[in-house]
Amino acid sequence: MRKLYLLLLLMSLAFTVTVNAQKRADYFPQSQLITTGVYYYPEHWDSTQWERDFRNMAAMGFEFTHFAEFAWAQLEPKEGKYDFAWLDKALALAAKYNLKVIMCTSTCTPPVWLVRKHPSILLLDENGVREDHGSRQAASFSSNYYRQYSLKMVAELAKHYGKDSRIVGWQIDNEPTSYFDYNPDAQQRFRDWLKNRYGTIDALNKTWGTSFWSQTYSDFSEINIPEHKQWGMNLNQRLDHYRFVASETSSFLDDQAREIKKYASPRQWITSNYIPSYGCGYIGASKELDFLTYTRYMVYGEDQGVGPKGYRLGDPYRIAMSNDFFRPLSPYYGVMELQPGQVNWGRINPQPLPGAVRLWLWHQFAGGSKLVCTYRYRAPLTGYEQYHYGIVGTDGVTPTTGGLEYQKFIQEVNLLRKDYTLGTKLPSGYLARKTAILFNHENIWGMDMNKQTDQWNSLGHISKYYNTLKSFGAPVDFIVDSSDFLKYPVLIAPAYQQIDKALIDKLTSYVKAGGNLVLTCRTGHKDHEMHLWEAKFAAPIYDLIGSEIESFDLPMPQSQDSVLMDNKTYAWKTWGELLKPLPGTEVWATYQGEFYAGKPAVITRKLGKGTVTYVGVDSNKGLLEKEVLKKLYNRLNIPVENYPEGVTVEYRDGFGIGVNYGDKKYQLNIPDDAQILIGTKELPTAGVAVWKLK
Ligand code: GAL
Repeated sequence: MRKLYLLLLLMSLAFTVTVNAQKRADYFPQSQLITTGVYYYPEHWDSTQWERDFRNMAAMGFEFTHFAEFAWAQLEPKEGKYDFAWLDKALALAAKYNLKVIMCTSTCTPPVWLVRKHPSILLLDENGVREDHGSRQAASFSSNYYRQYSLKMVAELAKHYGKDSRIVGWQIDNEPTSYFDYNPDAQQRFRDWLKNRYGTIDALNKTWGTSFWSQTYSDFSEINIPEHKQWGMNLNQRLDHYRFVASETSSFLDDQAREIKKYASPRQWITSNYIPSYGCGYIGASKELDFLTYTRYMVYGEDQGVGPKGYRLGDPYRIAMSNDFFRPLSPYYGVMELQPGQVNWGRINPQPLPGAVRLWLWHQFAGGSKLVCTYRYRAPLTGYEQYHYGIVGTDGVTPTTGGLEYQKFIQEVNLLRKDYTLGTKLPSGYLARKTAILFNHENIWGMDMNKQTDQWNSLGHISKYYNTLKSFGAPVDFIVDSSDFLKYPVLIAPAYQQIDKALIDKLTSYVKAGGNLVLTCRTGHKDHEMHLWEAKFAAPIYDLIGSEIESFDLPMPQSQDSVLMDNKTYAWKTWGELLKPLPGTEVWATYQGEFYAGKPAVITRKLGKGTVTYVGVDSNKGLLEKEVLKKLYNRLNIPVENYPEGVTVEYRDGFGIGVNYGDKKYQLNIPDDAQILIGTKELPTAGVAVWKLK
C-alpha cells in the first residue's frame, strides 16, 4: 500500500511539474514576441468616460490594461464591506475592446479607516517620526495588523476575479521596497527572526562579535532594531537587519501570492513590479511569483547620458542592466512601467528627446522582455503627480509624443510578429562572448557599511566591467552562487567581498574545466558574516589567483596614483591592492608613483584548462578595466565589438536590435544577407534599427 501511495504521489508530482511548465509556456506565446499595455485608474475618472478611453486605448494598439493598483479605499470602503461593482463595469468595458487586464493588489494604499483604527501600521522611523495617511507606501510590512487586513482584502479580490478569463495575471503591491520600521511589531518580528536564525543567544553573540565594546546580550528580548544612523553601531546587527527587512518584503509578497493561488486559476500569472535596486536583497527572493517585472524612468533631470543633451535620453546602461539583471532571475521578465514622457517627481523634469520613448521600448525588448506597460494612460488632473505625462494629455484624448511613440512601437512589433521564424539561431560571435557577472547583494551591504574610503562606489565598480561588456556587444547575465557557471566562457566576480570555501571550490572547478574567471579588488576579504579571516588578507583566494595580497592602499583623492599597463597609464584613487604573485603568474599592470611603485596591480595565470585574472585596483574611469578585458578576450580569441558609448546591439528571437543613446550617428555593421525591418544601417541619435537574421 505504501509503495502504491508513493508511486501515486510521484506520478501526481510529475503531473504538477508538467502542468506548471505547460502553464508557464502558455503565458506568453513565443510568436507574440511581446505584449504592450497601459495603466488605467477607472476610479480617477467619470465612469461615463471609461468606454471612450478603452476604445481609444485599443485603437492605439494596446493589448492590455492594468487596474486597481491604488484602489483599496474604493474596493473596501468600510471594514469588511467590499464593492467590486465599479471594477466589474470597467472590466466589462475593457473586455468589449479586447483589452486583457492585469489585476493589482492595492496593498500600498491602505484606506483611512484602517489607518485610524490601527495607527501602528504606519511606519515609525529611527528618529521616532511616524508617517501619516495622505500619501502611499506609509504602512509597514512588519505590522501584523497591516498583513492581516491586506491578506483579507487580497483574498476577497481573488475570490471575485480569480476565475475570470479576462484577467491575465496579478501584480502584487506596487514597487515593493524594504521598510525600516521601529514599531513594536517590527521589533518583535526582528527578535523572532534572529532567534530562528541563531537558535541560541550565544551563537548570536559570537557572530555579532558582541564582546567588542561590551555589547553582550543574555536574551533575544534585549535586542532592538539597530539605529543605522547612530555612530559605531554593530555591523552584524545592521547586516542582520538588512536581511530581515528584505525577508519581510519577500515574505509579504509570497503571502499575498499564496492567498491569490487559493482562489485563482493557474492560467493567471502572478508578478510584482520592482524598482531595480540591485543591492536590495528581496528581488528574486519571493518564490511564489511566476516571473518578475521591473519599472524604469529614464529622464528626471539628472545629468546622465552621453554628451550635454544626454539627459534627454538617459543613461544608456540603465535599461540594459535591468534587462540583464532581471532576465536570469525567472523564466521571463517584463517591464511593468516605462516612462511615457515628462515626469513630475525629479529634481528638474525635462521633456525627453522626441524618439526617446521608442528607443527605450526597443531597448527593453532587446533584452528579451515579454511584456511592457506604461504608467499611465491619462495625465492626472489632481493629486501629487500633476504634470506627469501619460499616453494622452490632460484633455483625456490627445495622444502625447510618448503616446504616439508607444503606438509606433506596437505597430512595429506587429510587423515583426509577421516576420518571426521560430528557432532562428543567434550570431555565433554574440554567443561566444556571453559573459556572466557574479552578484550577491550582501557584498554591497557589506562594503557600503564598511567602505574604508568614501571614494568607493560598490555598484559603480561593477558598472565599470558591465559597461565595457556592453561596448563589446556581449550578452551579459547577472548570476548567483548557485548558477551554472560553465554556461559562460567568461565569469567576472567584481569586488565579491564575502566568500566561502564552497564558492572558492566551485570557482576553482569552473576554471580547471576551461572557464575564464576575472576577480577584482576586495574579493574574498571576509566570510559571509563579514568577519575577516584569521589569516592574511583574502588568504582563501591565494591558491586560485596565484598570488598573495600583501596589503591595500586608499590614497587621498587629491594625490591619486596611476598604474601602468602595456605602456599606458590609468589613474586610480579608490582601492589598490599590492599583489605578490607566485611563480607562474603573469603581471599585466604595476603601480606607478607611490612608495610601492613597481608592485603588481593586475595579474593573470593559467589554471587547468582555464585562466584566472585578478584586477587589484579600481581605476577612475574604468579605462583600465576595459583594457584588461580587451586583452583577455583577445587572448582567448573571443570576438568583441567596439561600440561607442551609447550604442548597444542585442539579439533575440532571430532579430538584431540596435539602439543609439549617443550624440553622434553610428554606422551599424549589419550582415548583407540580413533583412532590415526597422530603421537603417545608419543609426542617428535616439535611432533604432531592427533586422532579421537569416
Ligand atoms: C513609479 C510608481 C508609479 C508612479 C510613477 C510616477 O515609481 O510605481 O505608481 O508613481 O512612479 O512616475
